[in-house]
This record gives sequence, structure tokens and C-alpha cells, in this order.
Amino acid sequence: MDMESVRSDFPTIRKNLGIYLDSACQSLRPDQVIQAMNDYYENFPACGGRSVHSMATKVSVAVDDARETMASFFGTDDPECYIFTKNTTEGLNTAAYGFGLKKGDVVVTTDSEHNSNHVPWMHLKDCIGIERRFSRSNKEGEFDIESFKSCMDRRVKVVSVQHTNNVTGCSVPVKAVTEIAHDYGATVIIDGAQAAAHRPVNLKDIDADIYCFSSHKMLGPSGMGVMYGKKEVLENLRPLTLGGGTVGLATYDSVTLAPIPDRFEAGLLNYSGIIGTKAALDYLSKIGMDNVKEWDNELMRRILGNLEDVKGLHIVGPDVAEKRSGVFSFNIDGLVSHDIAMMLDSMAGIMIRSGMHCAHPFYVSRAIDGSARASTYIYNSPEEIDIFTDTVRKIAETFGE
Ligand SMILES: Cc1ncc(COP(=O)(O)O)c(C=O)c1O
Repeated sequence: MDMESVRSDFPTIRKNLGIYLDSACQSLRPDQVIQAMNDYYENFPACGGRSVHSMATKVSVAVDDARETMASFFGTDDPECYIFTKNTTEGLNTAAYGFGLKKGDVVVTTDSEHNSNHVPWMHLKDCIGIERRFSRSNKEGEFDIESFKSCMDRRVKVVSVQHTNNVTGCSVPVKAVTEIAHDYGATVIIDGAQAAAHRPVNLKDIDADIYCFSSHKMLGPSGMGVMYGKKEVLENLRPLTLGGGTVGLATYDSVTLAPIPDRFEAGLLNYSGIIGTKAALDYLSKIGMDNVKEWDNELMRRILGNLEDVKGLHIVGPDVAEKRSGVFSFNIDGLVSHDIAMMLDSMAGIMIRSGMHCAHPFYVSRAIDGSARASTYIYNSPEEIDIFTDTVRKIAETFGE
């Protein structure tokens, strides 16, 4: 990967607006994505899939094109199975509420899910009495297949697990999990928010029933996501939102749903977001997802090596670069994570995230108040990493206990 050439594509890097290490929240965007979105607003800012005039037709073609790019990026041959959402959270909610689960049905997740793959299930537990089971991770937050197997029996209707964790960076072997879940007749949902941006993901190979991710974590526009589902699964899933665009025909007393994907995409869509998402996938394809993954690992090896001997610094999760997927979570004795984040910003213009990262059960179960989190992506340089680690060292030595 030509890192300098990649960096030159990002306006905030060209303008020297600071060292951005918050990509697990939302990534920076390259010129190519911004230009594609502007092109929509400047040259064909119409609605897709409805009007038949030439500008609208151009939008419809661009939307179809984006779906085709998506299918090829994720190794499937069914573009209509990619549903545009506003984020991973919306995809996961659509899946959770769409299966029509009943009292006593069992849903298995891991014990360290993001709230987006925890709170909807809690709500279903409180409202209709589904049963929750948690696959327990080890001390470092790594998935334990034996614990997962012990959760499984014929009452399990859904297995819904993260692909990669947003605190520890640990990944779940989703293909193996899917195989086991399918043996018990369960449907499999994967929260791919952190994985889709950082590694090659082949959805045909994984074979999960639903896979959700966010475009804004992978160079795409804010508030754009995707829910992929196998055709036969989507056919039996109830849409979360109904209205314009989701129906074939509605009379005073009947409604027929539109075919997939339209039935899940209610109302006018975020067309510039869809077009920007395609541009982001094109950009990542050019770099190659294997190279993206390797760059994350290289930067993480540097972080871990540079900070190895800092007194009072504790890493949350494993200290093995290849297990972290570009996410470095840590605490410093005597300091609150928000203070670490503010000091990094004021001392060296370094932007990280702090707090519980919407992974409350993970922190509460380990009696940790939260953590600072630096997360890397393709545009971060080794020099930026050195500034980050030098500043962390200074903070620990000056302000830590
Ligand atoms: C693992 C994981 N799942 C789900 C989400 C939710 O993503 P979004 O806010 O884009 O819906 C995030 C966001 O950080 C995440 O890291």
C-alpha cells in the first residue's frame, strides 16, 4: 500500500487538522467519496425508483450500481439482498424485531456485544419474554467456542454475534459459529460493524443469514449502513418501517408488500449516501482488504511495542497486534479515560474516544469504568503512531499514579 498516496486523498490530513485515531467510531473520507456525493447533488439530485424522467433514471441506475458493487465486494451474486439502512443499529433492529420471536424462544449472543446487539434483545425479553443466553468470553475478551456450544439446543431460534469487538478488537469465528447454529436450526445474525471495514469479508463463505454493517466506518458517508440477508431469510422477515416504496399495491383494506429490497427501504432514501458508499467500496477494493488488514496490524505492532514498558498502563483485551483489528483500548492508573482523551487532544491534537464505547455489559462485568480507545485505519502513518505513543507515555509519567 502506498501510504503517502492514500494520505494525500484525505482533505483533513492535507489540511493538517490533527491526528485522527477514532476510526472505530467513524472513518475519515477521501476526495473520491466526497466528490461522488457532490456529483449527485450538483448533477442529478433527484429521487430513484419512482419518477421516470431522465434525472431520476440516472439515480435509479446509480443505486443499482451501488448494490452490484456491494455484492461483488462481499463475494455474493445477489445485489437485491443488500438493504440500505442508516447504520448497523438499524439493520440489527430490523432483524431482531422482524423474525416474530415468541415467549420462550432463545436468543444467544456473546457477553461483550455492542449495545446495538444487546439492547433490542433486552427489549424483546422484557416485552415478550424471549430468553437470553450469553456465550462467555475469556478474561481478555476472546470468544470461547466451548462456552458457545454449551448455549445451544433446539430452543435457540437466533444466534446474534459480533464479528469483531469494538473494545478489544477480538473477532468471533463467525463461519464456525454459523455452522453450529445452523445444525440446531437457528438463524444467524452477524454485527459486522467493526469487521467489514478492516478485513476481507466473504458473505457466501460465512453463510450467515443476516450481516449488518455501517458505511461510515469504512470511508463512506455518515448515517449510511447496509443489512445483507439471504433471499429466503429476507422473504420471511417483517420490515421494521412501512410506507412509501415498500408496497406493491395498497387499497383501503389490503396491502401487498413490494419485492426485496424495496419492502425494507421505506420512504425516500439517502441517495448521495448510497452513491458515496459505492465510491468508498471502490476505493477499498483498489487498496485490497488484505492490505487494509495488514496495515492495521503493522500500526498495532508499533503501538504495542512503543508502549510495552509504560508504568501504570493497562491494555483492555489481548496484547497481540493481530488479534486487535486496529483497536487499542487502555487505561492509565490514576486517570479517568475522558481526561486521557482530552489531554491527548490538547497536548498533541490527537483524537481518540473514551468511556464505555456502548459496550456497557462488557465493562460492568469486569468492574472497569471505561477506557481510552485509539483506533487506526489506512490513512494513519507510523509517525502519527509515534506521536500518539510518546504523548501517552508523557501523560502516564506526568499525571498517572
Ligand atoms: C461492534 C459494533 N456494533 C455496532 C455498532 C453500531 O454502529 P452504528 O452506530 O453505525 O449503528 C458499533 C459502532 O461503533 C460497533 O462498534
